Amino acid sequence: MTSHTPVFPSSTQQVLTALPVPRHVAIIMDGNGRWAKSRHLPRIAGHKRGVETVREVTRACIDLGIEFLTLFAFSSENWRRPQEEVTMLRQLFLMALEQEISKLDRNGIRLKIIGDLAPFGERIEELALRAEELTARNTRLTLTVAANYGGRWDLLQAIGKLVRKYPGQTGGFSEEQFAPLLAMDYAPEPDLFIRTGGEQRISNFLLWHVAYTELYFTPKLWPDFDRKALDEAIEWFVARERRFGRTSEQLESGGAENSKSDPAPAPAGRRI
Ligand code: IPE
Ligand code: IPE
Ligand code: MG
Repeated sequence: MTSHTPVFPSSTQQVLTALPVPRHVAIIMDGNGRWAKSRHLPRIAGHKRGVETVREVTRACIDLGIEFLTLFAFSSENWRRPQEEVTMLRQLFLMALEQEISKLDRNGIRLKIIGDLAPFGERIEELALRAEELTARNTRLTLTVAANYGGRWDLLQAIGKLVRKYPGQTGGFSEEQFAPLLAMDYAPEPDLFIRTGGEQRISNFLLWHVAYTELYFTPKLWPDFDRKALDEAIEWFVARERRFGRTSEQLESGGAENSKSDPAPAPAGRRI
């Protein structure tokens, strides 16, 4: 962790503030293949349409004042797909990096890419690094693309860093030591998770981070997901009661900060 790394509140250590709009939205963009299939088009046509949706949703997030948008573009398990589809997805990623970066920059977007990029090849690794450097100082929206990302990969690479960083320590690790070593050390935990395409699973996306995230599942296929669909998800989010372990009655009586007066030892700061 550098001295510039911001420290974000942990949902298991403190009660997060209620928000009028989510600060961080994370999305599993699923359903491109089915969208294409229903139109008798090749699967790649669905992925291409999916890129359009990324543009629309990114613009909508800026308009709504959302600070962080994280998109699952390619999972560590997606290599199991037919070679032809993997190759085309790689090409689409390369094209997006080549063509969209200056536009993102002009729009004040900071781009971050999480995942192990090495298997995509040097060209993509280089472009990704350059794009991150070019947009590093932008503040309107942080757009994170998860590519060859897996939640378990992230946990394991963070554990590797943890033991290297604290060589003398064999136990008693805290969240404060661990969380900044995850790939997304620059963002707060997602407030809202959206999965399009009807499946109700996490598919090895963010695992640590979704501890208290509100999970929203919609049957809409990703290429059909638009600004209105995002508004509906936000409306749903705003109506959630985020209790973070407390009771409704505690929330109603405004006792949000009651853990301080709680005689039972609070689990906050527990070490493993
Ligand atoms: C999501 O759409 C995009 C990626 C996983 C790259 P899918 O390609 O999984 O679409 P469906 O689930 O087959 O419809
Ligand atoms: C999850 O979608 C990964 C991405 C959207 C990138 P999948 O379509 O690969 O998920 P599963 O295999 O159906 O769970
Ligand atoms: Mg799918």
